[in-house]
Amino acid sequence: MLRLEEVERPEPAEGEVLIRVRAASVNPVDWKFRRGIVPKQLPAVLGNDVSGIVELSHASDYSEGDEVFGIAPSGAYAEFATAPAALIANKPAGVTHEQAAAIPVGGLTAWQALFDRGGLTRGQAALIAGAAGGVGHFAVQFAKHADARVIGTGSARNRDFVFGLAPSSSRTSPSWSPTATCAWRSHRRSRSPTCPRRMSSASPGTSAAS
Ligand SMILES: NC(=O)c1ccc[n+]([C@@H]2O[C@H](COP(=O)([O-])OP(=O)(O)OC[C@H]3O[C@@H](n4cnc5c(N)ncnc54)[C@H](OP(=O)(O)O)[C@@H]3O)[C@@H](O)[C@H]2O)c1
Repeated sequence: MLRLEEVERPEPAEGEVLIRVRAASVNPVDWKFRRGIVPKQLPAVLGNDVSGIVELSHASDYSEGDEVFGIAPSGAYAEFATAPAALIANKPAGVTHEQAAAIPVGGLTAWQALFDRGGLTRGQAALIAGAAGGVGHFAVQFAKHADARVIGTGSARNRDFVFGLAPSSSRTSPSWSPTATCAWRSHRRSRSPTCPRRMSSASPGTSAAS
């Protein structure tokens, strides 16, 4: 059960900061904690992703008043949260707290999948299932940034959104070739009529490219 309660303010340890929380976000793992699918010692403050202002710093890289975002192990669904310096970064001025709080876990997941686990390097192809999703839309941008050829799957309604994640000049590069473009097809509807014949054998829910 999730309850609103008054609790002690968390104290930052050496190397940590205390953050006055301005925004937090919800990730799949949060409902998995609530349903007991992922174990967590209770009682606990939920929420990993945080963006806010440093209230107190025991970390050399951060000072009071810094705007930061990242992962808060003490729990982000609270007025105050603590985080080690290694799990936060300075929030860019042009990014709102709400936007920044949507980045950490989804972005980290995409990064780990592509580079830490996948070992993606320049010139390779990355097939990103659910390219419009919370993780997928980061993966598309990271893979493009790494100069990979990106192939994404998703609903037709999200096609323009996903293409908008890459600079338009890149769409004509080999990584956004017509074949790769046609790999962007609905997994719930029939294939795009603009896709070449060889694409048509792909079954719903799959992506294909030559
Ligand atoms: N978000 C995180 O921080 C995080 C962290 C670790 C692991 N994960 C895991 O990563 C996966 C994706 O998470 P997410 O946050 O990115 O979820 P999400 O935002 O809900 O995105 C899910 C994506 O999957 C696609 N999809 C949905 N039903 C589908 C189907 N039947 N066949 C093919 N594609 C389908 C959707 O495509 P359309 O919308 O285009 O239809 C959507 O882009 C989940 O398994 C989640 O548990 C997420």
